Amino acid sequence: MKKNFKDLQTAFSEEIVKVKTVQEFEAIRIKYLSKKGVIQELYASMPQIDPKDRPTFGKEVNDLRQYVEKKIGELKTQFEKKKSKEVLDFTLPGRMPFVGRKHPLTQVLDEVKRFFLQLGFSIADGPDVETDYYNFTALNFPKNHPARAMQDTLFISDAVLLRTHTSPVQIRTMQKQPPPIRIIAPGRVYRRDTPDASHSPFFHQVEGLYVDKGVSFADLRAIIQEFAKYLFGDDIHVRFRPSFFPFTEPSMEYDFNCIFCRGKGCKVCKYTGWVEISGAGMVHPNVFKAVDYDPAIYTGYAFGMGIDRIAMLRYNIDDIRLFFENDLRFLQQF
Ligand code: PHE
Repeated sequence: MKKNFKDLQTAFSEEIVKVKTVQEFEAIRIKYLSKKGVIQELYASMPQIDPKDRPTFGKEVNDLRQYVEKKIGELKTQFEKKKSKEVLDFTLPGRMPFVGRKHPLTQVLDEVKRFFLQLGFSIADGPDVETDYYNFTALNFPKNHPARAMQDTLFISDAVLLRTHTSPVQIRTMQKQPPPIRIIAPGRVYRRDTPDASHSPFFHQVEGLYVDKGVSFADLRAIIQEFAKYLFGDDIHVRFRPSFFPFTEPSMEYDFNCIFCRGKGCKVCKYTGWVEISGAGMVHPNVFKAVDYDPAIYTGYAFGMGIDRIAMLRYNIDDIRLFFENDLRFLQQF
């Protein structure tokens, strides 16, 4: 009998050291301590034991039970401790999921669109890979005219190139429909430029075109002035300077009051109080002729707008390359 108890205890000890999971722990507890478990069966076998051996047998069973209960109890507290460590700590700050956002150029473009859409403009589109005809010829750039050299770009063939401005969308739109026309055309444009803080071989423009009977230079000035106020505040004035573009006559370039010094003069505006935005003018009669509009009946204005330039002013960014490097440390600030 003695040996039997020793064997039982050894078997139990070997089993319990192997227990790793809560399920295994439950299994061993049930095997030894439940109502039909090993210990209870020993107690149940008491009547078959010779009465004179019963006290010793009883004592052995009790000892074994105590041993088993103690070991099982220890293991139980071990499991409970581990469990309490795994309990969620609700006071920990949550981890921010990474949420994408709009690129700063898209944000500025959205604002520009909102302004013009509410004035009744609609949005037109054209391809980045353009023909020489739409990019230059139809816009009254004669072959070999020096104005072409100012807008050098990648030529895919003699007649196909990466567009240097969004102005070809003027032609594409007017070819498709008769006047009146009131569109803006946002998009990417390309020029042969070595990247530096203020130059990039590609950048973004928004073209504007308004054609109808009786459209005047005063309308053009008014809309650009309103746009400057909408974007940067009521105290921002616009300055118009005479300039040249083959597809507008008269042509001008326009500047906004520097938004950093509000026109007083600072480093950003090189102490002039003004920052250049883009070009504009009245649509040249030759452009109307190219799309079969009668310049005796219709007049129109057109303007360009550098979105990157406006975004740099808006967010005080001093290097255009930051927009295109996809550095999240930069982009996440907007
Ligand atoms: N397309 C011209 C440029 O990129 C800007 C412009 C647009 C000028 C419309 C006049 C009218 O420089």
